[in-house]
Amino acid sequence: MGIGRLVMAAVVVLAVLGLSPGAATAATPDNGAIAAKYQSTGGASGPLGAAITPLRCGLVHGGCYRAYHGGSIHWSAGTGAHVTLGGIAGRWAVFQWERGFLGYPVSDENCTLVWAGCVQLFQGGSIYWTHSSGAHAVHGGIGRKWVQMGYERNPLGYPSSEEACSGVPHQCVQQFLGGSITWVSGGGVSVNPNARSVGVVVNKRRPNSPVNQTPPDLVGIGSQLMRWEAANQLTLFLRGASGAGVAVTTVSGFRSYSSQASLYNYYVSLYGQAVADTISARPGYSEHQTGLVMDIGNPDGACGLQACFAGTPAGQFAAANSWRYGFIIRYPNGYDSITGYTYEPWHLRYIGVRTATDMHYRGYRTLEQYFGLPAAPSY
Ligand code: DAL
Ligand code: ZN
Repeated sequence: MGIGRLVMAAVVVLAVLGLSPGAATAATPDNGAIAAKYQSTGGASGPLGAAITPLRCGLVHGGCYRAYHGGSIHWSAGTGAHVTLGGIAGRWAVFQWERGFLGYPVSDENCTLVWAGCVQLFQGGSIYWTHSSGAHAVHGGIGRKWVQMGYERNPLGYPSSEEACSGVPHQCVQQFLGGSITWVSGGGVSVNPNARSVGVVVNKRRPNSPVNQTPPDLVGIGSQLMRWEAANQLTLFLRGASGAGVAVTTVSGFRSYSSQASLYNYYVSLYGQAVADTISARPGYSEHQTGLVMDIGNPDGACGLQACFAGTPAGQFAAANSWRYGFIIRYPNGYDSITGYTYEPWHLRYIGVRTATDMHYRGYRTLEQYFGLPAAPSY
């Protein structure tokens, strides 16, 4: 049998097996994994389109790739064959493809994220893409913090820049749609949600910004106002309480700069400034001004705005369940030296379900500790 007949015979065998020449059994370094991947995405009529290079091998760790009009497929023995496309492929290229810190892709892109976002996982990190934020990598200490906080569903949302590093001690900052994360060599990681994020942190060292701001999306809830997302979640909380046989009332939600000024001055006139500062924020420094807070009560007013509220039905329900709806008891008992305020078991702060759940399971009681921010016992 001549060579030509041998090839013919091989093609017939492949056809019987349902394989095309060059697919899974091809004698290439990748054993046809790239060809098989290409076929699984629809070949030339899929998103990759026609090939523009032959199979090329000899990449780091013995990897191979092939480029197509719409993207490329990279393979290595440890990671398998994966497609890179569009904005994510462009960002990976900026980081020198498999030669950079991201290494090879370990998944294809997954475009089922919130806000129609996509993610692709690489050996050294991930790249996230949305239409409004573009494609950016998350990795290392900043990436770990962001992942721990709940990925793109955390109050910071998607990355909107790459990390920028400088200085001694070495410091890196990365911007996200809702704020930034800073990593300092040997000094840990801190989160700085911006003023409009539901993750914003307001305390005696972090006033509202601008100091007299009114949030953009206040809506009515009960007799009070809150930001839209927080109001929706509080509605679910109130329903949950009602389903458990506990009636909860809304006592005080959004307070403007000027209404906080009146309230604070009232407490100063009643107790003097030193005591007032432990129970009421100065104007511009109240979390109520963010529109993310509701002071709750019992319909009969039992223990209204007093520590004994914790023992009432509304107080007990809130302590046990507020995290499920994205709220925390912002001023817990015994944390005055961190929050700057005495116990307020009625003051529910919306922070988002992911973050509240993470804080609950990991035992964090204050936003300052969770976000790695300095304590704020005083102004
Ligand atoms: N009572 C809280 C601390 C406020 O005034 O915002
Ligand atoms: Zn309050």
